[in-house]
Amino acid sequence: PRRIILDCDPGHDDAIALLLAHGNPEIELAAVTTVAGNAGIENVTRNALSVARIAGIAGVPFARGAARPLVRSVEFAPDIHGDSGLDGPALPEPLFDVDPRGAVQLIIDTVMASEPGEITLVPTGALTNIALAARIEPRIVSRVREVVLMGGGVHVGNWNATSEFNIVIDPEAAHIVFNESWPLTMVGLDVTHQALATPQVRERIAAVGTRPAAFVGELLDFFGATYLEAQGFTSPPVHDPVAVAYVIDPSVLQVVKAPLDVELAGTLTLGMTVADLRRPAPADCTTQVSLGLDERRFWDLVVDALERIGDP
Ligand code: BDR
Ligand code: CA
Repeated sequence: PRRIILDCDPGHDDAIALLLAHGNPEIELAAVTTVAGNAGIENVTRNALSVARIAGIAGVPFARGAARPLVRSVEFAPDIHGDSGLDGPALPEPLFDVDPRGAVQLIIDTVMASEPGEITLVPTGALTNIALAARIEPRIVSRVREVVLMGGGVHVGNWNATSEFNIVIDPEAAHIVFNESWPLTMVGLDVTHQALATPQVRERIAAVGTRPAAFVGELLDFFGATYLEAQGFTSPPVHDPVAVAYVIDPSVLQVVKAPLDVELAGTLTLGMTVADLRRPAPADCTTQVSLGLDERRFWDLVVDALERIGDP
């Protein structure tokens, strides 16, 4: 299996990403780390531990990460995720506590203790922890297999006209991560806005008939209502598990090699991810961008993971 570190801010779609990673046999969770974003660090960390209990995740280290971005003031997304970051379902008390090392050290230790090319980083929140880890221990950059992140967008923003939430809340961290030499795949809004939890998808999830599947249904009730109210989506886009799905099966996305960078100086475009789609991409280009999603395959993977998790 592919060993991943999921760096997340649960978050309704982060929670589903965690379930997908845990339930799919091609993935092994090496660590789960949290970062402030959808809500404050205490909330998202507690949410991650509660989801671990619901999913039956044990023996995987979880660690608390950065409480605020590198440079800017912290921003949350209560309009989408509620004040807790995971409003809607009742959350059980966590069964275990976080690793005392903290997220950045846990990322460094996990990568350095693994074989070169073994660990894939899957960030589904702001890139603060990943940027700090790369600066504190630069040797992780060549040791990581690849970075597959949910964030950004080529033709679309959500926090403002040009920029996506995970990137724009900590654009300096994103700039660091996008400009390191590791292979990087950007799974942005161009594809995640196609990963819609439609009524048909929701029926498939409900039909699994387990407690974790019911939990996903409750997440989607809340997330669907806020996405309709805040952004006019009739079915909510379930962003973060798309990055995990790509690690499981790259054919789920159509990707194009292209230089990518993050705007730090724009007055209207701060946090925009800029893709140079002129052809051909330079031979030394290490970044790629996703432009198409196989929706059927994606939801098959989510449903399959829930079936495998069963009732832990
Ligand atoms: C991203 O922002 C967060 O609110 C979601 O969890 C997702 O990671 C989408 O822009
Ligand atoms: Ca997220």
